[in-house]
Amino acid sequence: MLDRLDKQPPDALLALIALHDADTRSDKIDLGVGVYRTADGATPVFEAVKAAEGKLLEQQTTKAYLGPEGDMGFVKALMPHIFGADCPVHNRLGGMQTPGGTGAVRLAAALAMRAGVTHLAVGTPTWPNHNQICADLGLDIVGYPHAAPDGSANMQALRQALRGMGKGDAILLHGACHNPTGIDYTPQQWDEIADLLAETGVLPILDLAYHGLGNGMEEDAYGVRAVLAKVPEALVCYSCDKNFGYYRDRVGALYALGANADDTQKIMTNAFSLARANWSMPPDHGASVVRLILEDEALTKSWLDEVASMRARIGEVRAKLAEAGQAGAVDLKPLGEQKGMFAMLPLSKDQVITLREEHGVYMAGNGRINIAGLTLDNIDKFVGALAAVS
Ligand code: LMR
Repeated sequence: MLDRLDKQPPDALLALIALHDADTRSDKIDLGVGVYRTADGATPVFEAVKAAEGKLLEQQTTKAYLGPEGDMGFVKALMPHIFGADCPVHNRLGGMQTPGGTGAVRLAAALAMRAGVTHLAVGTPTWPNHNQICADLGLDIVGYPHAAPDGSANMQALRQALRGMGKGDAILLHGACHNPTGIDYTPQQWDEIADLLAETGVLPILDLAYHGLGNGMEEDAYGVRAVLAKVPEALVCYSCDKNFGYYRDRVGALYALGANADDTQKIMTNAFSLARANWSMPPDHGASVVRLILEDEALTKSWLDEVASMRARIGEVRAKLAEAGQAGAVDLKPLGEQKGMFAMLPLSKDQVITLREEHGVYMAGNGRINIAGLTLDNIDKFVGALAAVS
């Protein structure tokens, strides 16, 4: 019976990891999957993570089951960083641990469906897994263009999308460091979005996967906080993959804002039952380590310093790309204004393949690059390769 299944292509983004690894050229450049790299091209374990892992090894006395909500100490310790130390809606917020940000997005989409949502508005292009998760759940994505032709956020399209929807509809918004365009909303735009959401009653699902890699920990949380202050209900998906360098250990969280504390509890019981049916309970190791970091002042400082240095390096590479100005037909100047690890280059599929095959430059098929794959040593080669293909 199982032979009836059609063969599926490998995930296009994750397949790049193996393709890049198999390339023997020493000057190859990996701008594929979203993994941060230092100026030396490494993705080291954070010092705070190493220290907290040591502590965990010493202190942990049991590996017995936790519930579907996972490590609630971890969930609570993250909250001041996401929602602010004096979060005005604190009493209406519930949370749980999830396997990475993907687990949180999956639960948020499933929760919205359970509540009757049939389609999800999303600015396009978006992170490919948003589409894959919704397709798997049977939730239709209705796209509107996220970027305006001048490289800023297309507020007109967002306004139109929101005004065409109402109570019972949902929209997925990237909290900061938009993946793949790097085009974030300004605080003023977030204020307008929050008002529009409150006015229309559309449920916001906010995906915050790159917290701290844009303008700062507080600054990157502006959108989430502005929206939560205005709307009755919201879902927030959080990933520690990038800002704790915890990619493979799958550390994430889902938060729900209900209209009142009872509603929040009701939403969370639904989220717990969906988690139980999907993965039963999330993996503990990474979340315990993040909790130990956040419970310790010195480790928290070390973590925040590391995030600040990542942010600074990304900013430095962006500035250097913007300075290069033009690479053939590709205008690199807007990259200086954009935020986070990603940018979209206007390249055809063929140009992306030529960059890979002839120049050893690996990027997603839609022209998305991971800025953190560039270093001061390989930028010139990259700009030269871009000029050659475009
Ligand atoms: C990316 O977009 O490259 C990362 O967020 C990794 C992933 O899971 O897709």
